[in-house]
Amino acid sequence: MTVWQEDAARDLVLNVGDRLALLTRGEGSHVWDADEKRYLDFLAGIAVNSLGHAHPAFVEAVSQQAATLTHVSNYFATPPQLELAARLKRLAGAGIDGRAYFSNSGAEANEAAFKLARLHGGSERPRILALENAFHGRTMGSLAMTAKAAMRAPFEPMPGGVEHIAATIEALESAMDDRVAAIIVEPIQGEAGVVELPDGYLAAARSLTLKHGALLIIDEIQTGAGRTGEWFGYNHEGITPDAITLAKGIGGGFPIGALVTFGAASSLFTPGSHGSTFGGNPLGTAVANAVLTEIENAGLVENAARRGVQLRGVIEGLESPLIDEVRGRGLLIGVGLTAPVAGEVVAAAQQRGLIVNAANPTTVRIAPALTIGDAEIEEFQTLFTAALTEVQASSAASENEKVSL
Ligand SMILES: Cc1ncc(COP(=O)(O)O)c(C=O)c1O
Repeated sequence: MTVWQEDAARDLVLNVGDRLALLTRGEGSHVWDADEKRYLDFLAGIAVNSLGHAHPAFVEAVSQQAATLTHVSNYFATPPQLELAARLKRLAGAGIDGRAYFSNSGAEANEAAFKLARLHGGSERPRILALENAFHGRTMGSLAMTAKAAMRAPFEPMPGGVEHIAATIEALESAMDDRVAAIIVEPIQGEAGVVELPDGYLAAARSLTLKHGALLIIDEIQTGAGRTGEWFGYNHEGITPDAITLAKGIGGGFPIGALVTFGAASSLFTPGSHGSTFGGNPLGTAVANAVLTEIENAGLVENAARRGVQLRGVIEGLESPLIDEVRGRGLLIGVGLTAPVAGEVVAAAQQRGLIVNAANPTTVRIAPALTIGDAEIEEFQTLFTAALTEVQASSAASENEKVSL
């Protein structure tokens, strides 16, 4: 073990396994470790660093705002906070009635969404529907909406009322009734392995929730801020939800989350019903304004769409026997493998200087900065091909060994 590994093993809480490297700096789509080894970062902090690392617009916003006003309290408004609320309402199409609540993370945005559902449902509507394989966060309310039993079991009992249903229109039709307060869905289930909803699902969810008087809440924490080639995942289906939750990409690396409400759902929170000391502070909101402005001005939503198609083409063109299918949209891509070797592929990639992630044993997740161009895609192609070839060769060798035994 190196010194930093010993430090990590001794001092960091044991909620994750061994850390993969000691990263010390980043620039654009690259990061460097303490030994000055360079990595192409095609994970971007799990769909967070929309502008890549150390983007001048990000650096300028942090420095400027830190030197101006960092934190007040929610007793006061600040110009960056008001600007961000108006910007998110405009980008989300939340209309004049829309409102924004600011948090510091995705899970906290979903906690606010959970409370919104309760406020809407009251005692008449105790049911909240979420999807099988959903991931909505690790705090107790967001965990209750997260599906994975292994994540939930040690912390039971969960806050009540949440039911997980299959991600099919038929399952939703049969689950819906007038006792449902809300349904929460991710347009693409990122943590589950970049799994898309069936075509027409969001439109069906919209009409069923309207029919039964329930809220449609869309978790855009991983899919929002342009990642899928539209500002938000629901834009691909042209629907209007009652609320969306945001985090990750809107801050480009600064911790900030938001709940944006639409129409009547905007009147549910009343004074004293929710809050956060740090949420909506001028520093975080100024950075999010700068990140979203850059995404808009530099055409990065369009770039995510275009580069996403290009990247998929490259991956499909690799013709590796390990690749089964390519899923996702824009720059949120899941490479489905023919064998449960995603961990090996990720490790081989890292060894060669490429950061990607194993969302599950058969899926490599790719979520680079929205700024990538030809150079990054070419570098990715070289490194990913080499990683796949290595894993393919070692799988073939161990198959041969089994045969000869
Ligand atoms: C769809 C979705 N919701 C919620 C979360 C939780 O966000 P955070 O880790 O910022 O609490 C995540 C994080 O991966 C996510 O992908």
